[in-house]
Amino acid sequence: MTTPAILIRGGTVVDAEHSYRADVLCVDGRISAIGENLEAPAGSEVMDAGDRYVMPGGIDPHTHMQLPFMGTVASDDFYTGTAAGLAGGTTSIIDFVIPDPQQSLMEAFNTWRGWAEKAAADYAFHVAVTWWDDSVSRDMGILGQEHGVQSFKHFMAYKNAIMCDDEALVNSFSRCIELGALPTVHAENGELVFQLQQQLLAKGITGPKAHPLSRPPAVEGEAANRAIRIAEVLGTPIYVVHNSCEDSLNAIARARGEGQRVFGEVLAGHLLIDDSVYLNDDFEFAAAHVMSPPFRPKHHQDALWAGLQAGHLQTTATDHCCFCAPQKAAGKDDFTKIPNGCGGVEDRMSVLWHYGVGSGRLTPSEFVRVTSTNAAQIFNLYPRKGAVRVGADADLVVWDPNGSRTISAKTHHQNVDFNVFEGRTVTGIATQTLSNGRLVWNEGDLRAERGAGRYLPRELGAGYAQALARRMAQTSWRHG
Ligand code: URP
Ligand code: ZN
Ligand code: ZN
Repeated sequence: MTTPAILIRGGTVVDAEHSYRADVLCVDGRISAIGENLEAPAGSEVMDAGDRYVMPGGIDPHTHMQLPFMGTVASDDFYTGTAAGLAGGTTSIIDFVIPDPQQSLMEAFNTWRGWAEKAAADYAFHVAVTWWDDSVSRDMGILGQEHGVQSFKHFMAYKNAIMCDDEALVNSFSRCIELGALPTVHAENGELVFQLQQQLLAKGITGPKAHPLSRPPAVEGEAANRAIRIAEVLGTPIYVVHNSCEDSLNAIARARGEGQRVFGEVLAGHLLIDDSVYLNDDFEFAAAHVMSPPFRPKHHQDALWAGLQAGHLQTTATDHCCFCAPQKAAGKDDFTKIPNGCGGVEDRMSVLWHYGVGSGRLTPSEFVRVTSTNAAQIFNLYPRKGAVRVGADADLVVWDPNGSRTISAKTHHQNVDFNVFEGRTVTGIATQTLSNGRLVWNEGDLRAERGAGRYLPRELGAGYAQALARRMAQTSWRHG
């Protein structure tokens, strides 16, 4: 069945550069024309954008749909999670294939590809390197060259599970350079976390309040700095996921100031929520906030906003990884067993608009950059995604800067019984979302289609990060 053309009339297009009044015509899943007073083709649907904005749909570069993790499986699957994203204006996700140690990367990749077939929105994959041998190196090549995987993830935490030690890190970063792929890291010193956890348990501190104590900011700063310095020595760009504190931000800012190519991501949650949530006596409430890195003392939020404004952090994500109360209860007597993760894919755009644009910290174009364009450029999805331009996918959000909603688990579309933004009233909402030219969210009516999402293969070595890598290889001290 072909999708009827849609003409979005009378809105203000906002892209990463500027804003201008224009109509946008979407035909066969692509943007086919942008201009004033466009003709509506016969049989097309005309949508009046009024005084609303027309922006690229959001790209969440960090999600974990139906992730098997810590003895359970994340409750939002690829269908429910991407559908919830569409309701909030997010039209693409980049999720993670996470092989078990000793599991073949190809086998894991094929498993995740199967799970993702039900996605309602487009998706790509980072693949995690959780161990090292020649087969991992070979599979990285196959994934990069034949399956469009352009980024590889390294968990520096989660000892005795998926943690990547320095040997694997160095080997994998070197392989990324050969391939023209981009290494990314979850930066926390896993050995320190492990030892601090044991010390806290030995003292009888077993509840969620121990979670942030076992992962203080220095643990994150140390790992971020180590990964960045390894990247510097080898001569690769690097992307640091979910920076939660000044310590890792400072490591990024310093390296960038020295000319190193480092990219940084911040989560909507870390911009807004502080560590007081762990002191709540209600286990369910506190455990619902257990994620890694944890929420931090308030002053870190100002630093993260400043990092976003200054351009040291380029992307915003959610690390969407939902677990319901009965799943979190696995850690009732031992905080190290609480499955780590929180939701947010539905709320990131509104939260960033309300607290970013609404407060004057971000301009509308900066909002577009940090919610889609920068992620598309860093992860080689641009200009197919992250742009309002002719030929790009018709993944668009019609945005009402004056519309508001109150976030709640009672009304959200995410398949989880808790919302970390519960009760916040945000101004700035998606009134319509188009995914591949289809109207999938219309004034509260979610029309997500199971299986309509497509896998997004990404080119190696041809994008923004790789261009920077080539330049870096020419200029780094190691290469003279
Ligand atoms: O707590 C988190 N973040 N859970 C998901 C896995 C990860 O570390 O990204
Ligand atoms: Zn992580
Ligand atoms: Zn994650």
